[in-house]
Amino acid sequence: MAETTFQRPRTTVVLAMSADGKIADAQHSPPEFGSAEDYAHLERQVATADGILFGSATLKAGETAMRVVTQDLINARLERGQPKQPAQIVCTRSGDLDPNLRFFQQAVPHWLVTMKAGGQPWQGKSHFEQIFTYETPTQSIDWVQTLQAMPPLGIRKLAVLGGGQIVAALLAEDLIDELYLTVCPLLLGGTSAPTPISGKGWLQQEAPRLELLSVKQVKDELFLHYRRRR
Ligand SMILES: NC(=O)c1ccc[n+]([C@@H]2O[C@H](COP(=O)([O-])OP(=O)(O)OC[C@H]3O[C@@H](n4cnc5c(N)ncnc54)[C@H](OP(=O)(O)O)[C@@H]3O)[C@@H](O)[C@H]2O)c1
Repeated sequence: MAETTFQRPRTTVVLAMSADGKIADAQHSPPEFGSAEDYAHLERQVATADGILFGSATLKAGETAMRVVTQDLINARLERGQPKQPAQIVCTRSGDLDPNLRFFQQAVPHWLVTMKAGGQPWQGKSHFEQIFTYETPTQSIDWVQTLQAMPPLGIRKLAVLGGGQIVAALLAEDLIDELYLTVCPLLLGGTSAPTPISGKGWLQQEAPRLELLSVKQVKDELFLHYRRRR
């Protein structure tokens, strides 16, 4: 791992966006604009990961986590010594999640990244197998400590499936290594539509720089693979 002074999982963002750079429409509907090829690409990324990280807004929009369903991909996981399904790790500062979400019925490991107060209602209950509550002195999630706690629990590769708030939080602390962006052939527009990275952003002189590793075109979609240049 390049230039990090602590052990943490390798992190890969995987997102599909419109040609104008939106990851959902202005109503924040779950994205259904990717092709079957993009869905297969997403499933392959999920299938190689030990853990899948996503924000509470992404979970609330879709109600379920992205599982591995293709038997060949499950078999390949088992051959690599991975469990059938990666850990599904939802991130919320407040801990305010509906315990009746379909997510909790899915046959996957459910993990939670939150603050101490956000974790309290879930402690001692069966909804989450792991609960991380590392906080910074400024009362936000301590991402460095959270990620450092993961390799001993088997998380060496983490796929970050959005949304823009979670990706922004990790990028702000230089905790993202790679990005897969699928550019889909539609325009969503709208100032309130989420983008791959929200947060405060950077001035152009200070913006994180990327190296383009590959570009693949399949029909009208472009599959971009970037590495964070450090
Ligand atoms: N096209 C795609 O590939 C794709 C992928 C994923 C999502 N999406 C779409 O994107 C939208 C959601 O994205 P989003 O950016 O609005 O939200 P998000 O990143 O999924 O989740 C935001 C939530 O995460 C928590 N959070 C925010 N900042 C945090 C931080 N610094 N540390 C810890 N927790 C933090 C907060 O949870 P609490 O409020 O619970 O405290 C916040 O409300 C949805 O419409 C979804 O369908 C699209």
